[in-house]
Amino acid sequence: MGIIPPALLFSSCLLLLRVALSSPPENPIKCSAENSGCTITNSYGAFPDRSVCRVAHVAYPTTEDEIIAIVANGTAAMRKMKVATRYSHSIPKLACPGDGHGDGLLISTLYLNEVLSVDAAAQTMTVESGVTLKQLIEEAAKAGLALPYSPYWWGLTVGGMLSTGAHGSSLRGRGSGVHDYVVGMRIVSPGSAKEGYAKVRTLNETDEDLKAAKVSLGVLGVISQVTFKLQPMFMRSIVYDQMDDYDLGDRATVFGNLHEFADMTWYPSQRKVLYRKDDRVPTTATGDGLNDFIGFRAQPSLLLGTIRTAEEIQEAKGDAEGKCIDAKLTTSFLHVAGYGLTNNGLLFTGYPIVGYQNHLQASGSCLNCGDDALVTACPWDPRVKGEFFFQTTFAIPLRKLKEFIQDVQQLVALEPKSMCGTELYDGLLMRYVKASTAYLGEQEDALDIDITYYRAKDPLVPRLYEDILEEIEQMGLFKYQGLPHWGKNRNLAFVGAIGKYNKAAEFLKVKERYDPLGLFSNDWTDQVLGLKGNVTIVKGGCALEGLCICSEDVHCAPNKGYFCQPGKIYKDARVCTRINSTQHN
Ligand SMILES: Cc1cc2nc3c(=O)[nH]c(=O)nc-3n(C[C@H](O)[C@H](O)[C@H](O)COP(=O)(O)OP(=O)(O)OC[C@H]3O[C@@H](n4cnc5c(N)ncnc54)[C@H](O)[C@@H]3O)c2cc1C
Ligand SMILES: *[C@@H]1O[C@H](CO)[C@@H](O)[C@H](O)[C@H]1NC(C)=O
Ligand SMILES: *[C@@H]1O[C@H](CO)[C@@H](O)[C@H](O)[C@H]1NC(C)=O
Ligand SMILES: *[C@@H]1O[C@H](CO)[C@@H](O)[C@H](O)[C@H]1NC(C)=O
Ligand SMILES: *[C@@H]1O[C@H](CO)[C@@H](O)[C@H](O)[C@H]1NC(C)=O
Repeated sequence: MGIIPPALLFSSCLLLLRVALSSPPENPIKCSAENSGCTITNSYGAFPDRSVCRVAHVAYPTTEDEIIAIVANGTAAMRKMKVATRYSHSIPKLACPGDGHGDGLLISTLYLNEVLSVDAAAQTMTVESGVTLKQLIEEAAKAGLALPYSPYWWGLTVGGMLSTGAHGSSLRGRGSGVHDYVVGMRIVSPGSAKEGYAKVRTLNETDEDLKAAKVSLGVLGVISQVTFKLQPMFMRSIVYDQMDDYDLGDRATVFGNLHEFADMTWYPSQRKVLYRKDDRVPTTATGDGLNDFIGFRAQPSLLLGTIRTAEEIQEAKGDAEGKCIDAKLTTSFLHVAGYGLTNNGLLFTGYPIVGYQNHLQASGSCLNCGDDALVTACPWDPRVKGEFFFQTTFAIPLRKLKEFIQDVQQLVALEPKSMCGTELYDGLLMRYVKASTAYLGEQEDALDIDITYYRAKDPLVPRLYEDILEEIEQMGLFKYQGLPHWGKNRNLAFVGAIGKYNKAAEFLKVKERYDPLGLFSNDWTDQVLGLKGNVTIVKGGCALEGLCICSEDVHCAPNKGYFCQPGKIYKDARVCTRINSTQHN
């Protein structure tokens, strides 16, 4: 999701491709010498703590045998290892080996990108772990098969999606997560000297271990191959319906049962909700609908810079009204443009959009359309001045959802303009997720809520309505016990997170068996799994970046008028609130 430049609604990647050289986003790994003396970052160019992760070497295996040799080598030398992917999309510091001070080894899946086999009769497909969602969808479609529920963004890899529990939106079938469709996996873990320092395990659905391996935070070893259970290709029909949000609490609780691919986008300051009524239709239906979501298209860098500058000025001036005006503009332009959906691959002429699953389930044309001169780029590409944001994402159990939504509505009633900033990033994306058998997967049916908002380039600068966003964050995570998305969020979201999983102990037992030395664990996963230290970092200004929950004023920005205060609705929250008397100091 991102700020949508209205001027660009009709410029699509296909047009740009004809004039621009095609070059994907940068490799997130940079080395000073060939494959050594490297750093890794994420696709936004900044981990939550903004540290640089240093590693000694990177290896680029092309086959499972090479993975085995690399893992054996690393294990014999007792080196910390981590798998890295083509684009490194996770926000938390998952991809950094060990403590990131420079001794670790990265194993990149960049060249593990082959489809190994497709069994049309059994409706299964086996792929290497570096295959992207885009490839997975395209290759399955060639065999008349489809993955029913998936993330909306093409750029994620199979290994990364599984490790972080990535999902789409549905309460049907085996579940909403990509991991819910895994029926087999090969994984290479450290081995004993007798085993030659590496061990390959082949897991299928009869193995309890698969419940650990299919959402693993990458701590069990290198996932080499994955077999998915797919469905015969199908068609779907999408209608977006915009309504007032006054009864969202009631509607949201049941809406997920009404439509197979239901989701909602909430604009709390505009008091509006976009309901996605999206269902399977018989393949006898006619339609050639295509999804090229506007927020995932390549945009001119000049325009991205202009928009970012406008946002920075609004922040600096405390211009909430300006943000609300821009948000309304963005939302209505998106609406008119059908969000990047077209009825026939070219034009949006109205709902319903009817088309094949593989043309509608995900998109990401900025991956193909960047160019070397960076005239255009993905909106968040760190090489250009563009979007820079936080993403708070948690799943609220459906049984508590109404109460949570009403709390947020009460808070917005107190500060009506407070959420305009999130609406600039196309509002709160809310997706249904189903209870999973994965130990670290969804525990019960829930609504996953994605909140994207301004992050200052300077970590010590507070943002507009800092307190309201922090209160919603703490409310979702602690009052309503929301589960944080493993691949998104700020540090504080993971305080106590592992305690929310009934089978956490089972997961840790598997980890102990697969990697007793913890070579594939790093500081971050040890903290998140409750094995060592705390996920929070307490220091001056830490609450501004979500590194901590404030307990003293100095964790906010007292010199800029922001003090640590209780929440307005959720009194147990501790948030950085701007207080009048000192604001002009
Ligand atoms: C634009 C955008 C849109 C997104 N949309 C969605 C969405 O719709 N739904 C959703 O749920 N999430 C979404 N996400 C978040 C995303 O799900 C996670 O960040 C993600 O799964 C990362 O995938 P990746 O391939 O980039 O893996 P990385 O972030 O590079 O890696 C994640 C972890 O997996 C480990 N890992 C990766 N491959 C392997 C392997 N082969 N073996 C062992 N460990 C491995 C890594 O070591 C790391 O610990 C989105 C992110 C972005 C940037
Ligand atoms: C094993 O490690 C040695 C020294 O660290 C290195 O030279 C060699 O290339 C490595 N082999 C593999 C397969 O990674
Ligand atoms: C699943 O794995 C077990 C061994 O772990 C094996 O005996 C069995 O044949 C496998 N089943 C399938 C369907 O491959
Ligand atoms: C981690 O820090 C948070 C606050 O920063 C605190 O609430 C929590 O109890 C700490 N957890 C542990 C295990 O120390
Ligand atoms: C802040 O100032 C405004 C007017 O400038 C006033 O109405 C409001 O009550 C003040 N709030 C606090 C918390 O002092």
